[in-house]
Amino acid sequence: MEDKNIPLHVGIIMDGNGRWAKKRLMPRSFGHKSGMNAMIELAEHAQKCGVKYLTVYTLSTENLSRPQDELDGLFNLFRKYFTVNVKKLYENNARVRIIGDLSALPADVAELLKKGEDNSPADAEFTLVFAINYGSRTEIVNAVNRAVEQGKKLDEKGFASLLYTGDIPDPDLIIRTGGELRLSNFLMYQSAYAELYFTDVLFPDFSGKEFDKALKDYAARERRFGKV
Ligand code: IPE
Ligand code: IPE
Ligand code: MG
Repeated sequence: MEDKNIPLHVGIIMDGNGRWAKKRLMPRSFGHKSGMNAMIELAEHAQKCGVKYLTVYTLSTENLSRPQDELDGLFNLFRKYFTVNVKKLYENNARVRIIGDLSALPADVAELLKKGEDNSPADAEFTLVFAINYGSRTEIVNAVNRAVEQGKKLDEKGFASLLYTGDIPDPDLIIRTGGELRLSNFLMYQSAYAELYFTDVLFPDFSGKEFDKALKDYAARERRFGKV
């Protein structure tokens, strides 16, 4: 595969953890745990493939209205990731970025996420972007309000710089696992020209091999950006 055909930035909607667990007669929390393991492997694999940014849709603004016990399980997974697993990521010369509204999360979790960013290697070759309590609509409305506060008219570049992703290039490829054909409020402004890839594979089963399939599909596409 030629390097120019490797996407710089891949976004992934990690869907299907609950159904994966249900098929095994296990609680949803088991699916989320397996999903977290799959995400860790996927990040390592994506870095090896030459991808520079991987954005993982971890929790949407809408997901915050799930039952509290499911949310508590997810928060515990974040606690574990950002105290234990993240070290391996740093060792691989990768950094963490968080996008989303952290103010609605438990204070200790928000603190760990900030630390995860701050302790990242400065000269990282790979960025793992966690979208946590992330929603495109909130992001866009916040950006509009900031622009109004600043009292100046913006062009597209200026507007994009006010989004959570201000310093992150637009995604080239968006993958959604779990069989649903929608974006569920993920990177809606940024994905204007992203290639979309949908698979029925449930996220805990989304291996490096499945990621390679998505990259292969992407590499064969012609991105015209409106031109002939
Ligand atoms: C995605 O899996 C993970 C999160 C939204 C946190 P789901 O929990 O939505 O799994 P399904 O869609 O119910 O199978
Ligand atoms: C999207 O999955 C959010 C994440 C994967 C974090 P959902 O399961 O919440 O999406 P819908 O409800 O099916 O659209
Ligand atoms: Mg789902």
